[in-house]
Amino acid sequence: MPSVTRGGFSSRIGFILAAAGSAVGLGNIWKFPYEAGKNGGAAFLVVYFLLTFLFCYPIMVGEIAIGRRAGKDVYGSYKLLGNKNWGLLGLLGILCGIMILSFYNVVAGWAFGYFLEISFGNLLSEPDYGKFFGNYVNDFWDNLLFSLGFMAITAYIVAKGVKQGIEAASKIMMPALLLILLLLIGYSLTLPNAMKGISFYLLPDFSKITLDTIYPAMGHAFFSLSLGMGALITYGSYVEKKQNIMSAAFTITIMDMSVAFLAGLMIFPLIFSQGVAPDSGPSLVFVVLPSIFKAFGPVLGKVVGGSFFLLLCFAALTSTISLLEVPVAYFVDEKNVSRQKVTWLIAAVIFIVGLPSMLSQGVVPAFNKLHFYHDKTALDFVAEVFSELCLPLGGCLMCLFIVLRWGQHNMSKEIYEGNPGYEGSFLEKYINFTMRYVCPILLGIFSILIVLDKLFSVTLDDLTGLLGVR
Ligand code: PFF
Repeated sequence: MPSVTRGGFSSRIGFILAAAGSAVGLGNIWKFPYEAGKNGGAAFLVVYFLLTFLFCYPIMVGEIAIGRRAGKDVYGSYKLLGNKNWGLLGLLGILCGIMILSFYNVVAGWAFGYFLEISFGNLLSEPDYGKFFGNYVNDFWDNLLFSLGFMAITAYIVAKGVKQGIEAASKIMMPALLLILLLLIGYSLTLPNAMKGISFYLLPDFSKITLDTIYPAMGHAFFSLSLGMGALITYGSYVEKKQNIMSAAFTITIMDMSVAFLAGLMIFPLIFSQGVAPDSGPSLVFVVLPSIFKAFGPVLGKVVGGSFFLLLCFAALTSTISLLEVPVAYFVDEKNVSRQKVTWLIAAVIFIVGLPSMLSQGVVPAFNKLHFYHDKTALDFVAEVFSELCLPLGGCLMCLFIVLRWGQHNMSKEIYEGNPGYEGSFLEKYINFTMRYVCPILLGIFSILIVLDKLFSVTLDDLTGLLGVR
């Protein structure tokens, strides 16, 4: 049981909003639309939703069950239900949390800076947004200020504790985020050519679906649902026994998918209204959208553009707090230190760890081209190794932990609490089957493919060519 001193969520909705807040983030609003734009619109959506429900949902259930059973941080949970060696898996999760937050905060800082520049500055009078963005991410002081600001807000919320900080902030930011999103969708649907955008987004082009689409979709689903590093083990440890884990995980998954889907509904009509290519990739949010907001004129541009970047900041903030909570919970639970002090200290350390990512967009040439990593930037290195590779690997190892060490019957027993109907149900059989066979195999293969791709530049295309499949 969560102890009084650790804190805990005060209600079902508090937990759901906090966990959905962790899931809903830059991944949904920044990355999802451009992935969908590149990979066949609705066809990508279908693949993404299927992967999410079939494989990611069971992993989420597993994480929450582990956390609630142990009532501890991610390291403590693996150690208590497994042993010291399994605790190492928890330490890997904490390392991932630190590293992901270190670069995520840099991108969140850009969103924060854009929000301030559009709402109170003169961003909308820029002649060339590609150039502006290039200079912007290259400006040491702007970057420092905005990412430091973002980290400080994150630390402030986490330092206040689970109920008064994380839960309270999520209860305000998540509904606000939904409201802004719906208003922006309502507005963008009234624009000329909006329906062209919608049909591009919603008419599936299955010819674009290949193995090469499925595998980024899987990685993205993992990142988007905050799986594989124990964020949900940590949040799960603050959940009461009377709560129904299955339905909570289902609601969180639906909320995450809905926000990704809605972000597309907002962005594609905007893009088509200005005749911009829908597959412009990562620069979509920071380069393409500002030019669209500019076209709306100075007043409307400020309102729509400012609301959009505020939305992005809220989404990022509910995610950064969950990332910071993972190492904070470790120190509070395992080292018995005060949450207030340790939160600020860890936030400062993570900020420093993130400096190479922050400086990798041109400020420091050595971080711009890492010779040991295919001349990519430090930000790419951290993002690819710790989120694209380590999260699916962490998910795979978590399944093995449940199957080989903790026991699937123990996981089931934990789920019965708050959900007696789960016993003997079809869902129980499905979850047990996927966790034992499908997820570990699939995620294991997936992790190997990523290692080959990221570290040795061997792609799936090369492999299938080699095996004569194509
Ligand atoms: N789910 C977040 C997003 O989609 O932006 C990112 C994230 C948050 C990943 C928390 C992992 C995590 F633990």
